[in-house]
Amino acid sequence: MKENKKKFYIKTWGCQINEYDSLTIINTLQQNKKYTETKNVLEAEILILNTCSIREKAHEKLFHQLGRWKDLKKNNKNIIIAVGGCVATQEGNNILKRAKFVDIIFGTQTLHKLPHMLEKHIIKQKSLININFLQLEKFQDTIKPKFTNYIASIPIMEGCNKYCSFCIVPYTRGREMSRPFYSLLTEINTLANNGIKEIQLLGQNVNSYKYIDKNKNKYTFAELLHSISLIKKIKRIRFITSNPMQFTDDIIHIYNKTNKIVNFLHLPIQSGSNKILKLMKRPYSISEYEQIIKKLKKIRPNIQISSDFIVGFPGETEDDFQDTIKIISKIKFDMSYSFIYSPRPGTPASKLKDNVDLETKKYRLQILQKKIKKQTNYWNTKIINSNQKILVEKFFNKKKLELIGKTENNRTVILQGQKNMIGKIIKVQITKKKKNFFKGIYIP
Ligand code: SAH
Ligand code: F3S
Repeated sequence: MKENKKKFYIKTWGCQINEYDSLTIINTLQQNKKYTETKNVLEAEILILNTCSIREKAHEKLFHQLGRWKDLKKNNKNIIIAVGGCVATQEGNNILKRAKFVDIIFGTQTLHKLPHMLEKHIIKQKSLININFLQLEKFQDTIKPKFTNYIASIPIMEGCNKYCSFCIVPYTRGREMSRPFYSLLTEINTLANNGIKEIQLLGQNVNSYKYIDKNKNKYTFAELLHSISLIKKIKRIRFITSNPMQFTDDIIHIYNKTNKIVNFLHLPIQSGSNKILKLMKRPYSISEYEQIIKKLKKIRPNIQISSDFIVGFPGETEDDFQDTIKIISKIKFDMSYSFIYSPRPGTPASKLKDNVDLETKKYRLQILQKKIKKQTNYWNTKIINSNQKILVEKFFNKKKLELIGKTENNRTVILQGQKNMIGKIIKVQITKKKKNFFKGIYIP
């Protein structure tokens, strides 16, 4: 009966993979019939926190949040608190030591165990922990998220073996594991038959995708892209995140074979200085990065590139920083993410002498972000009067027959149109820029 369902509330921090994981948790718990999601924390009996540890203050943030939830628990002893995600995977029992009132700790690879852990906790009334690396198991034992607006995300791989010196991901997500090639294609085919038009492939390093089946057949990321592009009803393909270490020619070649892969690529460079890249243990040079872009531009002259940057890495001099500014101009990066370097516990970089003071780091970040903003504006100006393909997602304003959709490089466009355009890719001339979106006119 509906009234007897326990209400759960979930809070998510971090990347798109965490978002996807949380959607999976929601669907899996709801399928269980005993649980139902609430968006109101005050009426929930189960509080779930899906954490992220990529940058600083992850721990402080976690214990602050838990402190707030502890107060709720004081008023209602039946409240169950569960902590999952990257901080939970890394810290495990340490969380329980500091916050004894936490009931369940689950990891990035054990989220499918949550329903069972909840049951067990309700019966045994003691804290439980499972942060094992049961890679890929979660994909079989969970209910996939539902997607609206014709766009679906799908994780194709998990984890990372690259061990960049600053990064916590290999320790929290485990080694690279790729999902079986044909089951991915089947899943995408089903999504396509259910109306999905755009697929976003997810993973810490999507281009490291490598699946070897029982008969020793090997499948690569390039082959996966190509096979997805052959699914007729799928009209657009995106992926995030790919890395420059393995952006091989076979992947670039696929851009030649299909125009379903968007004219936009997120390829994190991190720094414009070869010296800093070496310290970061990023095994490419600036000229190698430039080569990748050059080859891509031969096929797609207008492709737009975005990136992630870390400023203030230990040893970064003003000259190194200026090299980063230079490469930003040279590549003409579009909207990018930039962060001040944050030492992550247990990573090799955290042992390097951090000789850049905080003021300098903040100043460099400010300069870099200003520069990026200028370039975002450059691309924003450049698309005015151009023709763009947009996937129409829904009505923006039904009465006024205004539709909303996105361009290949993620710009939101609003235009006058008809209901039957929803779910289709249409050609639009961009006419002007408003605050957070563009206006366009349909080109029949
Ligand atoms: N696989 C991707 C990166 C995933 S991590 C790649 O190869 O680039 C997401 C982003 O978080 C990174 O690109 C980096 O810019 C940022 N990041 C990771 N660790 C960080 C740290 N210790 N300090 C600051 N930023 C960090
Ligand atoms: Fe992190 Fe480097 Fe892997 S940034 S996710 S260790 S490629």
